[in-house]
Amino acid sequence: MAKRYAVADESALVNEGDRAFVDADGVEIAVFNIEGEYHAVANYCVHQGGPLCEGELRGQFGMGEDGWEWTYDDTERTVVCPWHGWKFDLVTGKSVTDERYAAPTYDVEVEDGTVYVCR
Ligand code: FES
Repeated sequence: MAKRYAVADESALVNEGDRAFVDADGVEIAVFNIEGEYHAVANYCVHQGGPLCEGELRGQFGMGEDGWEWTYDDTERTVVCPWHGWKFDLVTGKSVTDERYAAPTYDVEVEDGTVYVCR
């Protein structure tokens, strides 16, 4: 059964892109506010162990329906690892550039104004 770890008061995660960290028995996890929802990702890059969740947030490029035009979603749900620039989707945990890789994600719960991650 998953154990809960208190991360922060909700007041610390009010704005889009706000983030808070917790040490969950030796695994550092960050919780982000992405479009008003909380998403938790391990602060560990699967490339070479960099502090993934300390990176900048960005939008995402995609391919238009016609297969020719690029699209850009400016919702900042992609984090860029500060060590070598690998990019991960904070909602799914998946690498944006290579589907073989993903960052671990965790469930988030809120109770009485406190945000928890479950691990
Ligand atoms: S450790 Fe994250 S990109 Fe290399």
